[in-house]
Amino acid sequence: MNWDDPTDETTAAPGAADERLVGAVADGEDQAVEAALRPKDLGEFIGQEKVREQLDLVLRAARARGATADHVLLSGAPGLGKTTLSMIIAAEMGAPIRITSGPAIQHAGDLAAILSSLQEGEVLFLDEIHRMSRPAEEMLYMAMEDFRVDVIVGKGPGATAIPLELPPFTLVGATTRAGLLPPPLRDRFGFTAHMEFYEPAELQRVIHRSASLLDVEIDTDGAAEIAGRSRGTPRIANRLLRRVRDYAQVKADGVIDREIAGAALGVYEVDSRGLDRLDRAVLEALLKLFGGGPVGLSTLAVAVGEERETVEEVAEPFLVREGLLARTPRGRVATPAAWSHLGLTPPGQGTRSGQQDLFGT
Ligand SMILES: Nc1ncnc2c1ncn2[C@@H]1O[C@H](COP(=O)(O)OP(=O)(O)OP(=O)(O)O)[C@@H](O)[C@H]1O
Ligand SMILES: [Mg+2]
Repeated sequence: MNWDDPTDETTAAPGAADERLVGAVADGEDQAVEAALRPKDLGEFIGQEKVREQLDLVLRAARARGATADHVLLSGAPGLGKTTLSMIIAAEMGAPIRITSGPAIQHAGDLAAILSSLQEGEVLFLDEIHRMSRPAEEMLYMAMEDFRVDVIVGKGPGATAIPLELPPFTLVGATTRAGLLPPPLRDRFGFTAHMEFYEPAELQRVIHRSASLLDVEIDTDGAAEIAGRSRGTPRIANRLLRRVRDYAQVKADGVIDREIAGAALGVYEVDSRGLDRLDRAVLEALLKLFGGGPVGLSTLAVAVGEERETVEEVAEPFLVREGLLARTPRGRVATPAAWSHLGLTPPGQGTRSGQQDLFGT
């Protein structure tokens, strides 16, 4: 999936996605525990080597000049660490941070109120910056470039613009949809960080770190098992770790190894590649009912008893990213990897083997 492609509608993961164990969007429990698990400085931040190195230079140079850091845009899928990095930027600069979001700024006046109350050097974190209103966006252009806003007083022909000087500040914008940002806004950021999905080895380190903060005992294989099912996303890794911890507490002596991790995630129907029940249902229908496709989205949705949107926006993005399913002009097609993941043989390639151990336990 392309997070920078404005025509890619798969990035919004509404409804069902929020409740999934493998959904990347934060749920209530995530929000409650994430603060405790957030790395506090760049040294503690795992993975994203390029971004970390570049950001380190930007912040060091600003500190050496005794200046406020350039505006930073963080773009990437949910749960990859944008909010975490924004807090790290403030911490590294020894600056206070003000947190708000695009949807919270309905009117330009809302933004003017925030901007005019910033202290010198403060970090303003604007989450979901692509969802800001147009007038607010235009005010932001001037604020970012000239540290100045025009406050409009009065209405109609009698309205006047009163210029207001702002102290220098650092805007940190975060977006899951960089492609939706108007170019004038994108261009005003001095540094743009594209966050990538994490490698399993990096997620393994995230899991070890979180386990030690949560006082959970886990061995290397146990962490590897959870990492492999976490869809390249630290938020999901942390969430799966909590579910496995519960299982280990109830069913074992609390220590997580490969066997416990595999069994626990089997109970929650998260398979060895991080597919959940819905993902597998879509894939299974595609393979077993339609011989691997091509089949139209609507037909596939009916076959699994889900809405079209659910299949398209919730299940397919990850299946496509994993190279298990392809969207073609003629319909959805399974790849050879899909057949082998479900332990099935494509038609015309010998006898069907039985289902393999689905959860890799
Ligand atoms: N590099 C990392 N090292 C360790 N933990 C991380 C890292 N990145 C993210 N996390 C953990 O993952 C969780 C989610 O991260 P965060 O809230 O920063 O994601 P986000 O990109 O802001 O997501 P969203 O788009 O939903 O706002 C946090 O609890 C954080 O502890
Ligand atoms: Mg965030």
